[in-house]
Amino acid sequence: MNTQKVLANVNGTLMPLDEVRISALDRGFLFGDAIYEVLRVYGGRPWLVDEHFQRLRRSLDSIRLAGVDIDRLRGRMLETLAQSKVREGIIYIQVTRGAAPRSHPFPKNATPLEFLYAEAREDGYVEARQRGACVVTRPDIRWDRCDIKSTNLLANVLAMQDACEADCIEALFYLPDGTLTEGTHTNLFGVRDGRLVTAPRNNEILPGITRGFLVGLARQAGVAVEERKLHRDRLDEVVELFVSGTTSEIMPVVSVDGRPISDGTPGPVTRRLQEAYNAAVQAFRESEAGERGA
Ligand code: PDD
Repeated sequence: MNTQKVLANVNGTLMPLDEVRISALDRGFLFGDAIYEVLRVYGGRPWLVDEHFQRLRRSLDSIRLAGVDIDRLRGRMLETLAQSKVREGIIYIQVTRGAAPRSHPFPKNATPLEFLYAEAREDGYVEARQRGACVVTRPDIRWDRCDIKSTNLLANVLAMQDACEADCIEALFYLPDGTLTEGTHTNLFGVRDGRLVTAPRNNEILPGITRGFLVGLARQAGVAVEERKLHRDRLDEVVELFVSGTTSEIMPVVSVDGRPISDGTPGPVTRRLQEAYNAAVQAFRESEAGERGA
């Protein structure tokens, strides 16, 4: 990314991303005392905005970060996107508890830092979505509140690095009992006995916006959805596997730790859901601004 060209917004002030200066005492930097969101931009408009802002609100409440005007933040995001002229890309938003002398308890007088940027980005996954991708599995060494979209992503970073070194697209996390929770930046779905199977919405996973949207699409398409975790040692019970996320959309998984899923090609249910997702995005692109999102 050419950061000179990327437009950022810091507490309401627009500036090039590479001119942004954030205090070394910012609690996001020192403690990971921060939450974030990543939204997709299709045709110059943000996708599933209400859903992302509801989750942002929930993350803020969960870490007791007060003093953020969500509607104002949303307005800043739309203004930044409009000024940036980004048509295809992402918006990154991060809110921290602000800068204060380093001490663990919440500071008394810090102002939250509201940082965001809009980045033009080519969809680098087109081919992988067609062909299917491999994943590895890694122990889920994260904390007990994976439902909060916090910036504490070290376990995710380490696992994803392992995936990259294995030339794979994602790492799936498993708990000590062998059950799979989600990926480092995606949610996980399988197809078993004609049903879509995905981990229940609880503290073990991030309630993915794409996951929620897909569950709705699946039900509309008459595909039953079962909220249950898959097991790392029983993946031979599933005939299809895919991960979902804002940037990945629906990514077929055709091998896990070197073992193929079915015949090692994307399956029909995954294909149907990809088509339904693409149709929804296409309808969004063609709809008037203001209906969904901006
Ligand atoms: N990641 N699970 C985790 C741990 C995630 O970090 C993400 C998103 C998802 C999918 O959520 P959604 O459908 O709302 O994107 C699931 C973002 C994209 C990121 O960290 O870049």
